[in-house]
Amino acid sequence: MTTRILFVCLGNICRSPAAEGVFRNLAPGFEIDSAGTGGWHIGEPPYAAMQQAARARGHDLSGQRARQFHPSDFDAFDLIVAMDEANLNTIESMRPPGNDTPVRLFMDYAPEAGIDHVPDPYFTGDFDQALDLIEQAARGLRAKL
Ligand code: 4NP
Repeated sequence: MTTRILFVCLGNICRSPAAEGVFRNLAPGFEIDSAGTGGWHIGEPPYAAMQQAARARGHDLSGQRARQFHPSDFDAFDLIVAMDEANLNTIESMRPPGNDTPVRLFMDYAPEAGIDHVPDPYFTGDFDQALDLIEQAARGLRAKL
């Protein structure tokens, strides 16, 4: 059974913390975490603008702290969900031999959105676009579990 889900982006301060918070609200009872493939923001709370945009939709991200993805996450989770293909490829490059934990693109759970990744609001500045996509994909993921 898929009960432990890890959301992964690059910095773990915008997209994956939002995915963690949105999915926790939508589907309580799962073990949810998030991580970044990069280590620049380890220990930091989610980016203030993302916290604010998420809070406006009822998602409290304030208790989260950034951490870096680690190969041991392949054993600690049943499903790893990447925000874009670059992060998926980074994650796959770290897969331990013999491990078969699925790694999926988040937007694959919302094909109706017509986009294969969550554009990074740290660079686009569009936090509501990211949250719209994250909420759609979170509903699609919940429906598949
Ligand atoms: P995220 O956005 O991957 O959605 O957390 C980023 C935030 C910071 C950086 C990259 C991506 N950065 O390079 O500092």
